[in-house]
Amino acid sequence: MKILKTISELRSELNRYNQKNLRIGFVPTMGALHEGHLSLVKQSVSENFVTVVSVFVNPTQFNDKKDLERYPRDLEKDCKLLKPVGCNLVFAPSVDEMYPEPDTRRFDFGELETVMEGAHRPGHFNGVGQIVSKLFDIVQPNRAYFGLKDFQQLAIIRKLVKDYHYPVEIVPCAIVRESDGLAMSSRNMLLTEEHRNAAPFIYHTLNKLQELTINSTTAAKEFIRKQFAENKFLDLEYFEIVDDENLQPVDFIEKNRTYSACIAVFAGKIRLIDNVQLNS
Ligand code: PAF
Repeated sequence: MKILKTISELRSELNRYNQKNLRIGFVPTMGALHEGHLSLVKQSVSENFVTVVSVFVNPTQFNDKKDLERYPRDLEKDCKLLKPVGCNLVFAPSVDEMYPEPDTRRFDFGELETVMEGAHRPGHFNGVGQIVSKLFDIVQPNRAYFGLKDFQQLAIIRKLVKDYHYPVEIVPCAIVRESDGLAMSSRNMLLTEEHRNAAPFIYHTLNKLQELTINSTTAAKEFIRKQFAENKFLDLEYFEIVDDENLQPVDFIEKNRTYSACIAVFAGKIRLIDNVQLNS
């Protein structure tokens, strides 16, 4: 496994594979890797000739400076996890390498970015568009792997690929959970012990909702609000039921469509997101 810090180093490595038309799989990450990331890497390794993992905490997608500062970073540990699962190339550039000039590009993701993460984290998806488009231009992968925990991000990236005609197949990968149900996230390691113990409540509450088979969003929202009002460690930021096709919030859940119930919660200072499918 090679660790490359510059675009030119990575390009010259990748040229060898491009010339032979060998399939390149790509897993973009912000490091602080966990089993969720590794499951994407393993899938890429099994489906492509070479797997590139980028490790880059992208400043332009953070709307909260404190969140950027406290985001966990440990490249050495990440590389120790990546090698045994078969990653071939780790691309770990500096901020100056990726942004020699401020990126002034503005992406328009239409209605996809007006809700949930887009509404609560202004500029976040523009930053995701900036970095993912740069990474796609540099790596030129055949396939790129994204986790379904960031459900809205996946929809944004699919739109980016469609709008800019990137010749890359986007592969969605299932959410990987801890044994107590908490969705794996790099942010979990920042939780205090009491918040970590409280956090599985998020998934358990979404599971309860699935079992209730409520078909009105107002009733579902009221159910979720009441559950979190009784939990002193977790603060609900938003809960939405959205149509899987266009990510727009719906009033009613119809039988023959699939929806996702998406949630963002503060566990102390740490913001966690999760989602489950309804009607799947
Ligand atoms: O999902 C993430 O970790 C990031 O948003 C991504 C896709 C690596 C872009 O920085």
